[in-house]
Amino acid sequence: MTDKAEFKAALTANAEAVDRVLDELLAETDGHENRVMEAMRYSALGGGKRVRPFLVTQSAALFEVDEERALRAAAAVEMVHCYSLIHDDLPAMDNDDLRRGQPTCHIAFDDATAILAGDALLTKAFEVLAEDATHQDAKVRADLVLALAKASGHQGMVGGQMLDIYAEDHELDMPEITRLQRMKTGELIAVSCELGAVLGKASENARHRLHNYAHDIGLAFQIADDLLDVEGDAAEVGKQTGKDAAAGKATFVSLLGIEQAHTQAQLLSNQAQEHLEIFGEKADSLRALAHFIVNRRS
Ligand code: IPE
Ligand code: IPE
Ligand code: MG
Ligand code: MG
Ligand code: MG
Repeated sequence: MTDKAEFKAALTANAEAVDRVLDELLAETDGHENRVMEAMRYSALGGGKRVRPFLVTQSAALFEVDEERALRAAAAVEMVHCYSLIHDDLPAMDNDDLRRGQPTCHIAFDDATAILAGDALLTKAFEVLAEDATHQDAKVRADLVLALAKASGHQGMVGGQMLDIYAEDHELDMPEITRLQRMKTGELIAVSCELGAVLGKASENARHRLHNYAHDIGLAFQIADDLLDVEGDAAEVGKQTGKDAAAGKATFVSLLGIEQAHTQAQLLSNQAQEHLEIFGEKADSLRALAHFIVNRRS
């Protein structure tokens, strides 16, 4: 898959499949509490690049995992990601009003509903992983739950978000910013690949290579996000731009400048692809994704 159009088509097809599974998993209810489901569906369906679900299914495909099982794990990761975005946009955090080209969840609903929708997406993700339909082997299901919990919590995404807030009024150096970014964004990206490997009962070696790949693209992904905040156009990016500097966020761009941040992202993307060598052509879609991540415009 060296062709750009071919990659875009694969990403779109995967996003549609994930949407279908999310639509089934996030079913509406009859009671008045359904408002929280409306908010969950509002934020989880029909938008976003769906990069993490793509990583789950493409990693799983390396080990010939059944596609429907992989899609359930992909939907679970996307639920955690969408929850993180809902909470990230709240007035107490980044205070954003635009997400994926639409009003953010707390603007479309209200703060309390947005908090609850985030909470419920997070817990739903683990419900999905724990269900028999995700894998017949209970140990595999437990390993999926464990991996996603570690990546999402205080030693992963949530910890990174805490550091992101801390950094608003503390100077961070390069190693500290790297750690922040790896936790905030990198861990959820890394676990996306890991879930594919767990589902496929991959060998230690394969798992290790995939982890190194994910480690590099995770960091490259956040550098690209920070660059889009400086160079992007809100209409194209689907969220407000120019907000990181205004909020005093610690980013690679604030530390290295635009040009070096681009160089660093490209370097990481190339390095990521080198880790895939053992998988041969089967990993072409993951290679194309590493390229896409640093060249995207949204
Ligand atoms: C945005 O993630 C938040 C970060 C972790 C940088 P994405 O750029 O993947 O957002 P969507 O899912 O495509 O909207
Ligand atoms: C958010 O990072 C990462 C999350 C864990 C949600 P950002 O705050 O940079 O993400 P955007 O730019 O709002 O999407
Ligand atoms: Mg943020
Ligand atoms: Mg934000
Ligand atoms: Mg950002």
